[in-house]
Amino acid sequence: MTQVFTKVTAVRGMNDALPDSGARWEQLEELVRRWLSDYGYRNMRTPILEHTRLFTRGIGEVTDIVEKEMYSFTDSLNGESLTMRPEFTAGMVRAAIEHNLLYERPQRVYAMGPVFRHERPQRGRYRQFHQIDVEALGLAGPDIDAELIVMVTRLWKVLGIKDVQLELNSLGQGEERAAHRAALIAHLEAHKDVLDEEGLRRMYTNPLRVLDTKNPAMQAMADAAPKLFDFLGEGSRAHFAGVCDRLDDAGVSYRLNPRMVRGLDYYNLTVFEFVTDKLGAQATVCGGGRYDGLIELLGGKPAPAVGFAIGMERLMDLWGQYQPQNLRPECSVYLIHQGDAAQRQAALLAERLRDAGISTIVHAGSGSFKSQFKRADGSGAQIAVILGGDELASGAASVKMLRLEGQSDALAQQLVPLENLVAFLKDKVN
Ligand code: HAM
Repeated sequence: MTQVFTKVTAVRGMNDALPDSGARWEQLEELVRRWLSDYGYRNMRTPILEHTRLFTRGIGEVTDIVEKEMYSFTDSLNGESLTMRPEFTAGMVRAAIEHNLLYERPQRVYAMGPVFRHERPQRGRYRQFHQIDVEALGLAGPDIDAELIVMVTRLWKVLGIKDVQLELNSLGQGEERAAHRAALIAHLEAHKDVLDEEGLRRMYTNPLRVLDTKNPAMQAMADAAPKLFDFLGEGSRAHFAGVCDRLDDAGVSYRLNPRMVRGLDYYNLTVFEFVTDKLGAQATVCGGGRYDGLIELLGGKPAPAVGFAIGMERLMDLWGQYQPQNLRPECSVYLIHQGDAAQRQAALLAERLRDAGISTIVHAGSGSFKSQFKRADGSGAQIAVILGGDELASGAASVKMLRLEGQSDALAQQLVPLENLVAFLKDKVN
């Protein structure tokens, strides 16, 4: 009896990038790396798996991420609880502490790669997604907050993306938030009758999140709640003004959003998000802010820090709306051959072309000239080189330009001696 194997599909909320979109991802990554290095940011790579307590402590116990979105499991070998990173910041800070990175000087660092959150999948919201994460560690002033924000607006320009709005808020310092929190809880207690189940559950654990509600019955209560901004002291206000002044200098417009709370607990002072109406319900492409307490909280010597992360799937979606994809050819030269000897010669010739920096595909196996030409055309190659019996006998190859629209055939195809071929092709390939 034969056993039927049920088809295995990808895990829900986790996407494949097929070759065409893979090429587009690479193109994006190249542009992003250049943009990052223009600001002096250097790459870091931290593990996908970290100890669970790094995130419960770093991100905060009463956040959606830690409460319900982490992929955590017990390592069966030693009983340790491990978690697949739901973001980069905590791991980057752990690594900076562990390797004494801030001992001599501040560090501008970035990471790019997959992160994992067990959310309900929809457009722009996945369970495995990718972030470009940028962190300025050890720098305290509003100048750096503003520089990071200006840097993000430059990326929109590099990618030709428009219609992204910057929203800005200040979360002040711990004591200021504590005073505000007390006032807020008093306000929630006074309006207990309009709170829904979630609101009641969170009013003491995370009262700010109660205001973040979509429940229309709670809007009036949320609008009338005490504003954190009114609790900010001199220093926090000056920092915020310093950021705003510099954004004005750079001509970056923003909207103050006193309701912005962010989904992670480590922030203080400046927080920001870039939002757009081009992505459906998942409107935020980039989020970040200052987190001056996190390094100390995770066991390091106290040091300020600020950073942001961009969701790459959302960025790809947005970029595609402004700059449609030009499919990249698979190679510049496609080698066609006929007969065993020609096939072997083609393989050697291809190596010489690659030595000269010309990307080359050798037709695999055999096949009629017609079918090989079809493949050559489908590959997007600029040039087909034909090694047939006649060509080999005369020590030459036929070179056919595949993308010369409107030119005569005589120009489009010519016989080139093998010894001149590499130089000839190098001249033709752009
Ligand atoms: P975050 O706001 O949680 O911040 O995530 C940053 C970005 O990741 C979001 O703005 C969004 O574009 C994208 N994103 C979040 N969840 C999903 C999802 N399920 N599917 C697709 N994209 C998603 C952080 O992670 C902080 N670590 C940012 C930061 C760095 N703050 C300081 N330094």
